[in-house]
Amino acid sequence: MAHRRFEGKEHAASYLRYRVSPPQELIAEILAFLENMKGRPFDLAVDVGCGSGQGTLLLAPHFTQVIGTDISPAQLEVALANSSAPNILYRQCPAEELPFADGGADLVTAMTAAHWFHRPRFLQEADRLLKPRGCLALISYTLDMDLEYGQHSHTLTDICHQFYKNLLPFRSAHIGTTTVPLYKQMYDSCPYPDKEWHECLRMRRPMPLSGYIGMVETFSSYRALLKQDPVEAHRFSQDFRNRLLSEMGESNPDTEITVVVKYFYWLACKPAAAWSGAKEQQTPQTRLFP
Ligand SMILES: C[S@@+](CC[C@H](N)C(=O)[O-])C[C@H]1O[C@@H](n2cnc3c(N)ncnc32)[C@H](O)[C@@H]1O
Repeated sequence: MAHRRFEGKEHAASYLRYRVSPPQELIAEILAFLENMKGRPFDLAVDVGCGSGQGTLLLAPHFTQVIGTDISPAQLEVALANSSAPNILYRQCPAEELPFADGGADLVTAMTAAHWFHRPRFLQEADRLLKPRGCLALISYTLDMDLEYGQHSHTLTDICHQFYKNLLPFRSAHIGTTTVPLYKQMYDSCPYPDKEWHECLRMRRPMPLSGYIGMVETFSSYRALLKQDPVEAHRFSQDFRNRLLSEMGESNPDTEITVVVKYFYWLACKPAAAWSGAKEQQTPQTRLFP
């Protein structure tokens, strides 16, 4: 069963407005891995669980064609409205049933999304889609972001971590308290010999405090609280903002702070030998994923 926590139009719009795009440095790492493993040309990238398309857009300059897929029509509507690149297409479909031909993709990505999928089925689909020597890149970030604002950074980070902790009861049981082990399990289950696990890439993002609060309000756990008790959710968020402002000694919620986002990711290259080439020869035995 799909976990559909990203549906409402307002949620999709806040998603586009507040969620951080994957850093260019990380996109560059993925492209360098693909270049090294498979080489050019880079024809097709499929970005699964693309949401409002921030990551999909970053892939567009590097591929002939990029296809963003998502299960949520509201997210795709926002992605389409925001997309100016002529080589991006969006398709509504589950990550576990991707409506694309075998062996056509140079790159399959899922950015902050794979933890929501039926992971073994998604990995099988990614394997089916990839060309020989094509690459899979799964990236995400932890929610324990730190905040920097002069000498207040330490206390601000403590306040944030307490806030995340208070949201834990509203997190989906499916993803647990942190998604890192889910990605590690997927990584361990991947039989491709050429693969790399990257535990932590810290990226510092300057943004107004109000932008950070807006981002936190897009977290699925906050959305669950909002759905259950909107008054309590707004009180909770306002209290959080006021505590941060008070510690900063500021009254303007648009005061710029720096948010430290901790990314983790893994990259893997489908071996050429696993690929039988002709579609009629594709049997379950030729598939690497169980
Ligand atoms: C946290 S958002 C990430 C969006 C975007 N990739 C980003 O980096 O901001 C997760 C996305 O995965 C989508 N999603 C969740 N389960 C899915 C599934 N089984 N198949 C396809 N998309 C799914 C949700 O609709 C949502 O848009």
